[in-house]
Amino acid sequence: MTNIAIYPGSFDPITNGHLDIIKRASKLCDKLIVAVLVNSSKKNLFTFDERIHMIEDAISDLDNVCVKTFSGLLVDYCTENNVNAIIRGLRAVSDFEYELQMAQMNRKLEDNVETIFLTASTKYSFLSSSIVKEIARYKGNIEELVPKKACEYLVEKF
Ligand code: PNS
Repeated sequence: MTNIAIYPGSFDPITNGHLDIIKRASKLCDKLIVAVLVNSSKKNLFTFDERIHMIEDAISDLDNVCVKTFSGLLVDYCTENNVNAIIRGLRAVSDFEYELQMAQMNRKLEDNVETIFLTASTKYSFLSSSIVKEIARYKGNIEELVPKKACEYLVEKF
């Protein structure tokens, strides 16, 4: 059986914390799909084309990782694409309640797909897309926080 995992999210934009999870998760499965939600109710800074472009550039050296978009329910995408596992990153206890609720609801909707949590590396435990945007907005240094292409996009946007 081919083990296909999915790492879903908004990625507005991708951060080095996301990239760390992608690299570690890619070692646990045959194929990893980084899936960008396109119909989010969140107001995103970047278009999904921009978000995909930033991710594609960051994962170009990872052979078993690809980027896709999805809309609708995540579990439906998983069923349609033979995905066995959903990967989510946990940075702190504050992430846990929301993540647990989402994992349990996804399992209720489709019990053939498991959620696997990877804990963030300590050096990225404070990092989020929102905080990176805040720093970029006020011209702070984001070079060590996001992949190269995301850094270029953020500088251009602000
Ligand atoms: O990066 P985010 O915004 O925390 O990611 C949230 C995401 C995209 C994983 C979640 O909102 C999602 O899966 N949305 C798709 C709709 C869905 O399946 N909702 C039910 C989840 S219980």
